[in-house]
Amino acid sequence: MRLFSKSSFQDKGHINIHGKPKNIIHLKKAMTFVKSHFSFYNFAWFLIIFLLEILVTLVFTSTTTRSSSPPTTTAHEFLSIDHSEEKCKYGKVYVYELPPMFNKELLENCDDLNPWKSQCAAVSNNGFGPNATSLAGTVVPKELTPPWYWTNLFAGEIIFHTRSLNYKCRTTEPESATAFYVPFYAGLAVSKYLLNLSSSARDRDAPCQRFLGWIKHQPYWKKSNGSDHFLMLGRSSWDFRRARDDDIWGTSFLRMPLMKQMYRLTIERHLTDPLDVSVPYPSGFHPNSLSDIRKWQEFVRTRDRPNLFTFVGGKRGYIKNDFRALLLDICYKESGSCKALDCGKIPCLDGSSAVIEAFLDSDFCLQPRGDSVTRRSTFDCMLAGSIPVFFWEGTVGGQYELFMSNEPESFSVFIHRNEVRNGTTSIRKVLEGYSREDIRRMRDKVIDMIPRISYAFPGNERSANNIRDAFDIGVEEVLRRINSQKGIMIN
Ligand SMILES: *[C@@H]1O[C@H](CO)[C@@H](O)[C@H](O)[C@H]1NC(C)=O
Ligand SMILES: *[C@@H]1O[C@H](CO)[C@@H](O)[C@H](O)[C@H]1NC(C)=O
Ligand SMILES: *[C@@H]1O[C@H](CO)[C@@H](O)[C@H](O)[C@H]1NC(C)=O
Ligand SMILES: *[C@@H]1O[C@H](CO)[C@@H](O)[C@H](O)[C@H]1NC(C)=O
Repeated sequence: MRLFSKSSFQDKGHINIHGKPKNIIHLKKAMTFVKSHFSFYNFAWFLIIFLLEILVTLVFTSTTTRSSSPPTTTAHEFLSIDHSEEKCKYGKVYVYELPPMFNKELLENCDDLNPWKSQCAAVSNNGFGPNATSLAGTVVPKELTPPWYWTNLFAGEIIFHTRSLNYKCRTTEPESATAFYVPFYAGLAVSKYLLNLSSSARDRDAPCQRFLGWIKHQPYWKKSNGSDHFLMLGRSSWDFRRARDDDIWGTSFLRMPLMKQMYRLTIERHLTDPLDVSVPYPSGFHPNSLSDIRKWQEFVRTRDRPNLFTFVGGKRGYIKNDFRALLLDICYKESGSCKALDCGKIPCLDGSSAVIEAFLDSDFCLQPRGDSVTRRSTFDCMLAGSIPVFFWEGTVGGQYELFMSNEPESFSVFIHRNEVRNGTTSIRKVLEGYSREDIRRMRDKVIDMIPRISYAFPGNERSANNIRDAFDIGVEEVLRRINSQKGIMIN
């Protein structure tokens, strides 16, 4: 699929009555047939409905009993299967076609996105990045590598755009949309100014102001002042909340008056802003089918893990009492149980075989805060079936409940950073306190979440289509909020 090919933008913002998928037309024909033969099939229909009701009751009772009994982890427990009868129950999404300066041209000028390093590989392949072919053989069997890519942590804006174009609940008719998705790559547009400390506040705000100057004239925006619109921010929400013009970091995009009602998906939300919805950081695993998911889950479940724990990270020399430096030192000292990977020495940022290998080879992975309180590495770790160890409550708390279990103790370990700093707690001893059975149970929880914390790679025929990935869940949450703001409750 090519993101900017003519066919993917056939709607041109107008009503497209010829664009209905063939299977809908077939379904309609079938329904007409059934209706005209209804009297003959009366009895059969009642029987089918009766059986369906029994089935629904059975499914319902089995889920309720399961949630009240102790966690029995089966591979299927955490999969959210979309049943066709509830397809698009929250309504449909209209995807704007924006002037190319707001998305396409940023990718074309990928050498210009970052003053220090070309981002052309990072933004390639519709945001998924280069194929991770180098993973094959040594770390992962060749047949398991196709769903792996070297995805950049800030590529979420492109990935969301790509996924939206063949989203099952996309509509090309704006009047039938519940929500409007605006694929403005705000994070990519401001990154070169953020990363250049000589840039002015005005430089950092300019791309966002240009975008708002365009959107405010659009008819469907004017109808709602943006309250049924949303966009994806590929960076932390904090990068868009500069409060004062003399602050050295950030744009003030989310503080601009026109943004007062628009929803935003982001890799790290502001905990008190009701318009922010967190979604997982993009990581490297992008399954294209249910079989991709099953094979990977089985591989990480049965993997031999020689290390008790691992730490993958870089020191931040400029931070006093840098906790990451402390963890790296601890890990080197405990080299009998810990595998250390210093990201100051090997490039970790866009993923690498060494990073994936470290997680695959360890039962636990240490996850201190990143440059902000959340960390992309948490997702890399969990996708490899390793159990995360947190030191800050906010690293997943308040962020990813829609995607992870809301009982963090069932799939992760928490050790307060101060106990590590003052030496009263040994990380190794805490982790050695978990039995093989505890570890197996927690790992199964982590493995169950894999489909929900990864972004599916869109294909022509996706059997993964009826499994909700991080994109589906994030967009559905925005739709749900827009409905409930209009007083429509759907559950
Ligand atoms: C990368 O992977 C995709 C999908 O798995 C495949 O279609 C494509 O041919 C691969 N490209 C290269 C250069 O291997
Ligand atoms: C950083 O911004 C300043 C001021 O706009 C500009 O003169 C300079 O060329 C930029 N530096 C880089 C490396 O882009
Ligand atoms: C949108 O905002 C403008 C200016 O604040 C206001 O006049 C208008 O009534 C608002 N429209 C809607 C639909 O809320
Ligand atoms: C170490 O830190 C923990 C957590 O803040 C605290 O409860 C404990 O009293 C501290 N112990 C010492 C010896 O400082």
